[in-house]
Amino acid sequence: MNLNDCYNFSDFRKLAKKKLPAPIFHYIDGGSDDEETLKRNTDSFSKFDLVPNILASVGEPDLSTKVLGTKIDMPLFLSPVAMQRLFHHDGDKASARAAEKFGTFYSMSTMATSSIEEIANKAGGPKMFQIYIHKTQGLTENLIDRCKSSGFNAMCLTVDTIVAGNRERDHKWGFTTPPRLTLKSLMSFAMHPMWTMNYLTHEKFQLPNVSNFVKKSSSIAKGVMEYINEQYDPAMNWKDAEYCIKRWGGPFALKGVMSVEDAKRAVDIGASAIILSNHGGRQLDGSRSPFDQLPLIADEVGGKIEIILDGGIRRGTHVLKALSLGATACSFGKGFLFALGAGGQRGVESILQKMHDEIKRDMILMGCKSIKELNKSKVTLR
Ligand SMILES: Cc1cc2nc3c(=O)[nH]c(=O)nc-3n(C[C@H](O)[C@H](O)[C@H](O)COP(=O)(O)O)c2cc1C
Repeated sequence: MNLNDCYNFSDFRKLAKKKLPAPIFHYIDGGSDDEETLKRNTDSFSKFDLVPNILASVGEPDLSTKVLGTKIDMPLFLSPVAMQRLFHHDGDKASARAAEKFGTFYSMSTMATSSIEEIANKAGGPKMFQIYIHKTQGLTENLIDRCKSSGFNAMCLTVDTIVAGNRERDHKWGFTTPPRLTLKSLMSFAMHPMWTMNYLTHEKFQLPNVSNFVKKSSSIAKGVMEYINEQYDPAMNWKDAEYCIKRWGGPFALKGVMSVEDAKRAVDIGASAIILSNHGGRQLDGSRSPFDQLPLIADEVGGKIEIILDGGIRRGTHVLKALSLGATACSFGKGFLFALGAGGQRGVESILQKMHDEIKRDMILMGCKSIKELNKSKVTLR
């Protein structure tokens, strides 16, 4: 099996599973506790059916939309994801360059394995930075100021990860960053000699956005849950969010909003967008899926704030359903990560091309000339 055999999410996942050592594959693939929410995120898209219109002289549909002050060429972009260097030796560079080719957002995690400045130099497309507020004083300001000088277009603050979700697969497989060789993981690294060779012969694993503030952040092998619980500030509150919005002064999203009250409060504090998300089912298991929650949120704050939906997106039709119910745009994590693991930049380009083609074909089949024409009349509850 190679990239040319990959037609959809499941194919990229299968290829990534072959190429990546088990602890790394399971770090991407897993959710928290019983992974109920992880599964629900995708299943919930089946609750609504698309209702097409015919003879609409669609021609070439326009897939572009404006989100967080930037026009993007397709209504789907890359969610922020930590430690991409583990999934492919080109890591964030590969994802950012692929997103640039498709004229859509690449999002950088605070826990990225490339620096803000490096990505600003190497990729020219729209860029968003995602903040995790650490306990360490001065880091948040440092990140915001560096993004400003590097010309990032937008920023988001992740609000659903003040303590780590219980990701049992990480315990089972002994996942640490940087990877640590244990008796359990040794076999898996030995069985993936290409990955291991690339890991050892390319740039050293590091977390350059935090390394000046968090001592030994990238040299001591730690579990991700351990890092989150030691370093992130569990006392983060609305004042902190307001502070970040003011200090940044540009388009700003709160990532991980799920309740109607919180969405209303995000409007009140002047956020430009909410990212309706449960962290891809990696945090609070048993929580609702973003898609199930979308109609309630759109009824209350639609038109007052942009709504970005993330979680469970695997197909172009998922994006169309979300846009019909009031989302401004969507983003995905695992969808592009398996493609990154399967084939680096070429893999991410391939999944973006497939999602672009699916969205375009489905819009034609729906009789829609532009994203604006996707509204509640295009979907029905099953
Ligand atoms: C391996 C992995 C690492 C992630 N790292 C981060 C992160 O550093 N910051 C963040 O805000 N979200 C992070 N997320 C969550 C994504 O941004 C996004 O919310 C989620 O992946 C969406 O669900 P999906 O994977 O079903 O598309 C991560 C997700 C995965 C799968």
